[in-house]
Amino acid sequence: MWHCGSQCLAFIAFSLTFANARLHAQFVQQSLIDRPNIPLSALTSEESILIEAISNTSISEWSYYYTHGLHLAGKNLTMAQWTADRWGENGWNSSLVSYQVYLNYPVDKSLSVTYPNGSIYQPSLEEAVLEQDETTGYPNRIPTFHGYSASGAANAEFVYVGQGQQSDFARLIELGVPLEGKIAVSKYGGPFRGLKVKNAQENGMMGVIIFTDTIDDGNITEANGYAAYPDGPARNPSAVQRGSVLFLSTYPGDPTTPGWASKNGSLRADPSTVLPRIPSIPISYADAIPILAALDGYGTPGPEVDRTGWVGALNVSYSTGPAPGTTMSMTNLMETTYAPIWNSIGIINGTIADETIVIGNHRDAWIIGGAADPNSGSAIMVELSKAFGSLLSTGWRPKRNIVLASWDGEEMGLLGSVEFVEEYAPWLTQTVVSYVNIDVGASGPWPFIEATPELHTLAMDIMQKIVWMDTNRTMKDVWLEYTNGSFGVLGSGSDYTAFVQRGIGSIDISAGGGPTDPVYQYHSNFDSYHWMSTFGDPDFLTHKSMAQYLSLLVYNLADQDAIQFDVPNYATQLEKYYEDLLSTINSTSQTLDTSSLRSAIDEFSISATEVQALEEHAVETSDHELLTIVNHKYRDFQRGFVSQGGLPNREFYRHLIFAPGIDTGYAATTYPGITEALQAGNSSLAAEFVRKTADAILTAASIIKV
Ligand SMILES: *[C@@H]1O[C@H](CO)[C@@H](O)[C@H](O)[C@H]1NC(C)=O
Ligand SMILES: *[C@@H]1O[C@H](CO)[C@@H](O)[C@H](O)[C@H]1NC(C)=O
Ligand SMILES: *[C@@H]1O[C@H](CO)[C@@H](O)[C@H](O)[C@H]1NC(C)=O
Ligand SMILES: *[C@@H]1O[C@H](CO)[C@@H](O)[C@H](O)[C@H]1NC(C)=O
Ligand SMILES: *[C@@H]1O[C@H](CO)[C@@H](O)[C@H](O)[C@H]1NC(C)=O
Ligand SMILES: *[C@@H]1O[C@H](CO)[C@@H](O)[C@H](O)[C@H]1NC(C)=O
Ligand SMILES: *[C@@H]1O[C@H](CO)[C@@H](O)[C@H](O)[C@H]1NC(C)=O
Ligand SMILES: *[C@@H]1O[C@H](CO)[C@@H](O)[C@H](O)[C@H]1NC(C)=O
Ligand SMILES: *[C@@H]1O[C@H](CO)[C@@H](O)[C@H](O)[C@H]1NC(C)=O
Ligand SMILES: *[C@@H]1O[C@H](CO)[C@@H](O)[C@H](O)[C@H]1NC(C)=O
Ligand SMILES: *[C@@H]1O[C@H](CO)[C@@H](O)[C@H](O)[C@H]1NC(C)=O
Ligand SMILES: *[C@@H]1O[C@H](CO)[C@@H](O)[C@H](O)[C@H]1NC(C)=O
Repeated sequence: MWHCGSQCLAFIAFSLTFANARLHAQFVQQSLIDRPNIPLSALTSEESILIEAISNTSISEWSYYYTHGLHLAGKNLTMAQWTADRWGENGWNSSLVSYQVYLNYPVDKSLSVTYPNGSIYQPSLEEAVLEQDETTGYPNRIPTFHGYSASGAANAEFVYVGQGQQSDFARLIELGVPLEGKIAVSKYGGPFRGLKVKNAQENGMMGVIIFTDTIDDGNITEANGYAAYPDGPARNPSAVQRGSVLFLSTYPGDPTTPGWASKNGSLRADPSTVLPRIPSIPISYADAIPILAALDGYGTPGPEVDRTGWVGALNVSYSTGPAPGTTMSMTNLMETTYAPIWNSIGIINGTIADETIVIGNHRDAWIIGGAADPNSGSAIMVELSKAFGSLLSTGWRPKRNIVLASWDGEEMGLLGSVEFVEEYAPWLTQTVVSYVNIDVGASGPWPFIEATPELHTLAMDIMQKIVWMDTNRTMKDVWLEYTNGSFGVLGSGSDYTAFVQRGIGSIDISAGGGPTDPVYQYHSNFDSYHWMSTFGDPDFLTHKSMAQYLSLLVYNLADQDAIQFDVPNYATQLEKYYEDLLSTINSTSQTLDTSSLRSAIDEFSISATEVQALEEHAVETSDHELLTIVNHKYRDFQRGFVSQGGLPNREFYRHLIFAPGIDTGYAATTYPGITEALQAGNSSLAAEFVRKTADAILTAASIIKV
């Protein structure tokens, strides 16, 4: 669902945290250029079986299957069953779990601009059909649209609103730009698209047009001399980013069943608090240029607006407008329905009944293709099931249960995973050790990982066991070059969200393009098998390395005597987020007593060191009773971070260390209860959340306490 473009990559380079103090010291002191190749770690015999079983050729076959059929949410039962059948052939006990969810599908739309002299501009609203890329021309291909958008019409002058964050609207109000009754034109990038629509609606606007801008493509643009897809690596000018406009940071999942599973006969709530009332339409950069150009010379020019992410790379001034007398007319017609969606679930029971590892990836896509999002992940999961099948056939059984999930309806708003977690919450919170997510497993050759802190060390150790794309470098070498040793912090944007918010530690693995790689055309018809096999991952070797990595990660989580957690690193990261909080307090010029939080972190840190020592002792003495005690502490401690009642006005988000920002949707906010109260200038609420957060950390500390 989520995609990190080149702007986002530049952000990663300076904003993310280091893995832990030990690695920081070990690797960062040398410059990247001087650093020798990191040697491969040895493999166990089980690990060798997994590695050997994985082939780029079979992955490419799974990818071909998944990228040649319609698979919007609730549209392809055959593909769900096919997935379960492949896993079943490899020895997994597989079945489908379905939910009856509220959905909408596109019926019709229109958009035009009328100039004061009466002439009319009519954008195409269609993506090009390419002879070389057969799925772009399938008769059942999916129109460009926004999932969960409102049906409606608007006819008004229009205003450019930048990336559509609350602070962009505040700036427009400061500049005296009229918003009420106008249509918003917003650039993709920054916050989750649904929040752009929410913010426009809250400012009294009548509709929203969201366009792709080539600023997201760095140097790889036609303007810079690169040929566009299918002839070259640049974005096709007609590419459109589809996507959901659900208010994701309030509640993901079926908007009619907040907090409970969507079954036939389930009670239904009014979904209007998380769905837009005004229509929205996504457009390409080619379609956007004349619309933006019509605002040139009106309102405040982009550079004077002086907002991050406001000015893009198109040949226009990014002026606010409105242009008096130049009006936009838009209509959007959606069909609303309740329909079944299908999660495929596969299980290998371990020898320990109450410890489980869940691995998930979604299967639905906005387009026929979806070769990167999500089918690189889907193809990798089939290959993983095959690798574990090879192990099973040797008589091996894991210690912990392993559950594979192919989620439906992720793109609409994480529907399949949220409903599943809501249905099976008691079992999941009693047994799940970690949730491992893959979504865009390969859209380019650079690995990127987001994870809760206890998983950082294992994630890095496994990278040292992987030969990256049949070269002479380890995955760790490549990852260090790309990320400088940083792990992302989990906010939202994929199916780990419901797990994290129930206090289940998670990791999300992906691989994407760097500044000189072909542009990944996210949520567009050009995210196709042809693009993948021509530009994205021509030999499917990124897929192969990622499948090997995922398999070894899951194997080590599921089968080591001691659960491979670095709990002291959780303390290190809590400390770092605390420093960030202090600077937030400072920058908002509020006073807040955080001493209870400070001492809770200290207490957690002491318990973390002690439990790690106990784990080492249990392993050295092969004391199985003690191992069980330690493993259960590891399995359970993060449930302590979950608060009854959740965050203000968004009860779904109840983890007091991590949540997607209320106005970012994707990017994480740490200590969200405290940080967002400060940002809203509400000191008493901030103080209340200092107390709740400190209590939560003490609860977690008491669970690991020896
Ligand atoms: C990597 O981190 C080091 C230490 O913080 C810093 O000096 C260096 O500039 C970083 N390199 C990149 C490529 O971000
Ligand atoms: C489901 O997906 C498969 C594989 O891509 C495809 O062959 C089939 O036509 C799709 N079914 C429907 C109903 O579109
Ligand atoms: C709900 O009932 C309808 C009508 O009987 C059926 O088609 C659908 O599959 C059911 N949905 C689920 C999730 O069982
Ligand atoms: C009307 O105005 C638009 C925008 O200024 C311009 O592009 C177009 O050429 C004009 N048409 C005529 C017929 O003058
Ligand atoms: C992009 O191009 C500019 C000018 O052509 C160059 O200075 C810059 O280094 C390039 N950036 C990358 C990441 O290649
Ligand atoms: C940018 O647009 C202006 C007119 O608005 C035009 O004169 C100029 O040629 C354009 N530049 C490029 C590089 O297309
Ligand atoms: C699948 O279930 C059967 C019994 O229903 C069981 O004998 C078998 O061990 C299970 N397979 C796995 C991989 O858990
Ligand atoms: C697998 O484990 C689950 C949960 O403990 C249990 O309900 C089920 O019966 C087990 N299945 C087999 C085949 O052992
Ligand atoms: C790895 O391969 C590259 C060329 O592909 C070569 O320049 C480099 O020396 C090799 N490094 C090692 C450690 O073998
Ligand atoms: C698999 O990788 C090899 C190189 O190791 C390559 O020759 C082959 O074409 C790849 N297969 C596919 C289907 O891409
Ligand atoms: C708070 O800001 C002031 C200056 O604005 C600075 O001197 C001080 O070090 C900051 N304190 C913290 C904890 O960041
Ligand atoms: C602070 O938040 C509390 C709880 O949501 C609310 O009752 C109160 O009105 C808020 N105060 C201000 C000044 O916004």
